[in-house]
Amino acid sequence: MAAEQSMELHEAYPMTGGDGLYSYVNNSSGQKAVIDSAKELVKRAIVEKLDKEILCSFKTFRIADLGCSVGPNTYFAVQNILEALESKYQQCHQIPEFQVFYSDHSANDFNLLFTSLPQNRNYYAAGVPGSFYGRLFPEASLHFVHCSYAIQWLSGAPKELMDKSSPAWNKSRIHYANSGDEVVRAYKAQYHKDIEQFLQARAQEIVCGGLMVLIFPGVPNGTHHSQSLPSMILELLGSCLMDMARKGIVSEEKVDTLNIPIYGMSPQELKEAVEGNGRFSIEIMEDLPLMIHDHAVSGGQSKIDTQAFVCHMRAGLEGLFKNHFGERILDVLFESYRNKIEENSSIFMSGKAVNSFVLLKRKLSTSKLAS
Ligand SMILES: C[S@@+](CC[C@H](N)C(=O)[O-])C[C@H]1O[C@@H](n2cnc3c(N)ncnc32)[C@H](O)[C@@H]1O
Repeated sequence: MAAEQSMELHEAYPMTGGDGLYSYVNNSSGQKAVIDSAKELVKRAIVEKLDKEILCSFKTFRIADLGCSVGPNTYFAVQNILEALESKYQQCHQIPEFQVFYSDHSANDFNLLFTSLPQNRNYYAAGVPGSFYGRLFPEASLHFVHCSYAIQWLSGAPKELMDKSSPAWNKSRIHYANSGDEVVRAYKAQYHKDIEQFLQARAQEIVCGGLMVLIFPGVPNGTHHSQSLPSMILELLGSCLMDMARKGIVSEEKVDTLNIPIYGMSPQELKEAVEGNGRFSIEIMEDLPLMIHDHAVSGGQSKIDTQAFVCHMRAGLEGLFKNHFGERILDVLFESYRNKIEENSSIFMSGKAVNSFVLLKRKLSTSKLAS
């Protein structure tokens, strides 16, 4: 049964909660800039791709933001959707009520999310805990799903990366830019499994004709893994850990057993997954401007604010490192990371990365398959 599927346990490393120095709230302006850059496409999605029947025939229009974290970014994303919907609703006789589901892992700081909800909101808000790699909502209950900067997180790191007897053993590394093909194959296989589960679950939850916006960081089509900027950035963090292992601050074995469950997919890989799933049509697929921290990178001109960049990375990853190595190493690790980023800032020019915007529409013709 669907509700049982959603109980399946997945690794969960939510962004740092609260409003401290390294909190997501204070270190996610980069993700906010991506949401801002997608605003016009969200509007186009609703104006051009949302059918009048979906719009005008439901008394309650239900929106979900998956991997919402703690705000405020999710509130801006929701506001962009609602603004576009409200203008489109002029085509209908009456405006429905809106319900917005904020969804993330149960360990997410939902208290902060709820206490900072916009006061003047014109929708009913609810929180939905759980992994988006399983079912989260009843069948055919959602009209619009939004998911920004979240599906790069896998449900977990592939197990063979930690298996000494496997050709995919990822010794002394925490990601794959400098690894062999076997390691990359293991990451890819995990991604394929996860994205299929994600699409399968959403195909059941979204009404036929309903829309889903996916925004994700990844790599341009055809990029070799050694050129992947998202992975190069993570590899530098791994090299800091290996420096600490050489100094005896952490054990090398501990480094060997950590692999960050993030995969930088290409737009083509997402397209193939959607086509393989068969329940959605791809309505829009475009690149968004590439942001490092909150600066657009174009023509190799951007200068990185190293401190801000490291805080941004720390807000996203410290939960995972704390869980694996304990809290005491965090300051040393991220200080050493700042130095590494400064020394290697050329990777932001040489590495390849892309932010993708994809609009999917739940197909009408396969509706019977979902039930
Ligand atoms: C980088 S944050 C993005 C937050 C927000 N969407 C934004 O754009 O600012 C990624 C979020 O995805 C969530 N996430 C990652 N994997 C998830 C999963 N399997 N199920 C639900 N949420 C997940 C994390 O907990 C985190 O809050």
